[in-house]
Amino acid sequence: MTETAKLIIDGKTVELPIIIGTEGEKAIDISSLRQQTGYITMDVGFGNTGSCKSKITFMDGEKGILRYRGIPVEQLAEKATFRETAFLLLNGRLPTLDEITQFSVMLNDHSMIHEDMQVFFSSFPRGSHPMNILAAMVNALNSFYPYLQDETDINFIFTRLLSKVRTMSAMSHKISRGHKVVYPKADLSYCANFLNMMFDSPVKPYRIDNDIVKALNVFWILHADHEQNCSTSAVRVVGSGKVNLYAAISAGISALWGPLHGGANQAVIEMLTRIHEDGVSMNSIIKKAKDKNDPFRLMGFGHRVYKTYDPRAKIMKKMSDKILKKLKLDDPLLDIARQLEEVAVKDSYFVDHNLYPNVDFYSGIVLRAMGIPTDMFTEMFAIGRLPGWLAQWKESMDDPEWKIARPRQIYIGNPKTKYISINKRDLETKEAE
Ligand code: SDX
Repeated sequence: MTETAKLIIDGKTVELPIIIGTEGEKAIDISSLRQQTGYITMDVGFGNTGSCKSKITFMDGEKGILRYRGIPVEQLAEKATFRETAFLLLNGRLPTLDEITQFSVMLNDHSMIHEDMQVFFSSFPRGSHPMNILAAMVNALNSFYPYLQDETDINFIFTRLLSKVRTMSAMSHKISRGHKVVYPKADLSYCANFLNMMFDSPVKPYRIDNDIVKALNVFWILHADHEQNCSTSAVRVVGSGKVNLYAAISAGISALWGPLHGGANQAVIEMLTRIHEDGVSMNSIIKKAKDKNDPFRLMGFGHRVYKTYDPRAKIMKKMSDKILKKLKLDDPLLDIARQLEEVAVKDSYFVDHNLYPNVDFYSGIVLRAMGIPTDMFTEMFAIGRLPGWLAQWKESMDDPEWKIARPRQIYIGNPKTKYISINKRDLETKEAE
């Protein structure tokens, strides 16, 4: 017997079905509301609105829980590789040894990109933002690798895209600096290959450091999915029109770029650098962040869902320590970040608003230690989020209930009026003067 919610409206009582999730989350299914009552609901920013039922990721914002296909992200970060995590998200279970071997072979077999694509990279103006380039180049993949949506092995398409995005990112980096492009190597793992393509050079061959490779695996695992966030919702909404996969993913990349979303990791480092260079006090930064008349926000703090410490930030914070120690690096921005956190988490404004560090607060420190340029930080987030976007896109395409996304609105504009000819308008204006 389905539980229902009763709504009394205009003297009428309507019953709406209640949906209960695996972990006891509850929703009122309002899909028949307009037809039964003529009413729609309003929820600007969709903070209280479920767009779908999903089996991919579970988050509990109050308890700081994050699980991919039921597995806590802490366990995956500690024990899994990014490839395994990508397979888990895409297939709903961890791979067998044969499957992960086959997946790795396919990732390497399809890691090259069409040579003609290199022309695109060198045609972008110097200083173009990597997210600008990535969004354009992923969209362009539909021209270089067109597929007929109903006639193909979508897992092959996914694997090829997962591999090529990594190559495109490293290649774009090299070309943007006028350096020789480094091709992927069949004997390197997914993450090691990326680092080698980024940093190997004829003058100074890149030495693979397993601790850095592990750190990159963890970084990408922590970013791999996050249920219906802004960019994933963009992928689902754009995909709901049945456009090709590349266009939907390109929309996700563009949505992620925003400083309130994935662009925050770059914004955090820029904020910490300003604090370091200007020598401003922590208290003045906190005061500025609290000032309603100041648009400044403490970047890397706060979250739509987490109202406690983002579990990913905890792991990222530990990893920033570890990687700096390993590389014998001393990053003043890490000290600033920790001081800022210390002051903020004790400040009543942040406590009252449930504002804690999110995944972006320490991630930039880790990327800096790896040698990743700041303007590539959000692109690194995008490469990590790609398996999640693909899994969510596939789930929406396979969902029998899924329809083209088309929210409603409440109109608050002009009542009915009429057209007035330009001459008459002109005359009226002159008469009014
Ligand atoms: C990501 O959704 C996801 O899952 C995203 C993500 C993922 O993995 O996909 O987790 C990745 O995007 C992480 C978030 C990265 N963004 C930032 O770090 C940017 C800084 N944070 C904020 O702009 C903000 O916290 C948001 C956008 C993240 C969340 O905004 P909310 O929950 O809609 O909060 P709000 O804008 O409604 O603010 C609520 C109150 C306001 O004060 P009041 O007007 O109620 O008095 O909290 C204040 C805000 O002013 N507030 C902040 C703040 N964040 C919220 N004040 C100062 N600094 C901040 N960072």
